[in-house]
Amino acid sequence: MVLNICCIPGDGIGPEIVTQAKKVLDRVAETFGHEMKYTDILMGGASIDACGEPLTDEAIATAKASDAVLMGSIGGDTNTSPWYKLPPEKRPEAGLLKIRKSLNLFANLRPAILYPELRGACPLKEEISAKGFDMLIMRELTGGLYFGERKTVEENGMKKAIDTLTYTEEEIRRIAIKGFDIAMKRRKKLTSVDKANVLDSSRLWRAVVNEVAAAYPEVKVEHMLVDNCAMQLVKDPSQFDVILTENMFGDILSDEASMVTGSIGMLSSASLNDTKFGLYEPSHGSAPDIAGKDLANPIATILSASMMLRYTFDLDKEADAIDAAVDRVLKDGLRTGDIFSEGCRKVGCTEMGDAIAERIAR
Ligand code: IPM
Ligand code: MG
Repeated sequence: MVLNICCIPGDGIGPEIVTQAKKVLDRVAETFGHEMKYTDILMGGASIDACGEPLTDEAIATAKASDAVLMGSIGGDTNTSPWYKLPPEKRPEAGLLKIRKSLNLFANLRPAILYPELRGACPLKEEISAKGFDMLIMRELTGGLYFGERKTVEENGMKKAIDTLTYTEEEIRRIAIKGFDIAMKRRKKLTSVDKANVLDSSRLWRAVVNEVAAAYPEVKVEHMLVDNCAMQLVKDPSQFDVILTENMFGDILSDEASMVTGSIGMLSSASLNDTKFGLYEPSHGSAPDIAGKDLANPIATILSASMMLRYTFDLDKEADAIDAAVDRVLKDGLRTGDIFSEGCRKVGCTEMGDAIAERIAR
């Protein structure tokens, strides 16, 4: 099979980790008889420097013409980088929001898994981490506060900023369906998170989720208020399977969930639309402080490449081969600095990529 993959190396550690993911994909191609065709595009700071904007229309067209997008990370240090002196719509993050919206990537899947080998990195008490956890946050990605009308006005000499949170039934229904579909492939539990005790958009959210739930009698559904969910994530993360939530709640809760795994360098993500097309990226940021030093952990990007094989290309065996190679590397005691512990062997980004590629097998 020929896989047309658009790559966005991006900023900071992005180029290094994407290089390692390509290395692993190339090994998969050799082992399983596929052909990887890569086309790179610029986004974020790299695109601002080269083209004066964080994502050009040509770059979007290239992404659209491919089967899937594999991204590293974008953005720089918000305190020191000149990119953050630009108006908001010209900054690196605007490129990310633009690609999500232009490609209609409304479903964002963010797994948060406590790897047994990395349990020591979990910041929670041992009695909590001992239970382990494996959840998936299904975040709505193209609606809500992020894309509602916003403006700053001045009334009687007083500035007033307005952001609007809107959701249509249809926007809620399509993400809810994705949530239930994935719950059916997992442990069949779905927690829908909202703020229905205050917000109208949340009350509609809850009603539509209940409607969709009727078609999935095997899935156990519960509704949880977002503030309570933030508590439950640190009190007993093992209770969660699929968490379904709107854009901003999902942004915040997915950072919390990844933090309790203690290994954000390991977590992948997928942003999907209604077709097989998807954008795959690590859950972490561009870590400008360690960029170019061969210190970054490429595993989250490599696991994102695995998600890409699974969701866009239906290449489950190939995806399993990547996941197994990552497990093996951890069992063999290789660690980048972020997940290092006593008794393991510390390796750099390149060596980690080599080690995973070597362990790809049929
Ligand atoms: C994320 C990021 C983005 C978001 C930022 C960079 C706009 O935090 O992907 O979670 O808030 O969606
Ligand atoms: Mg975020």
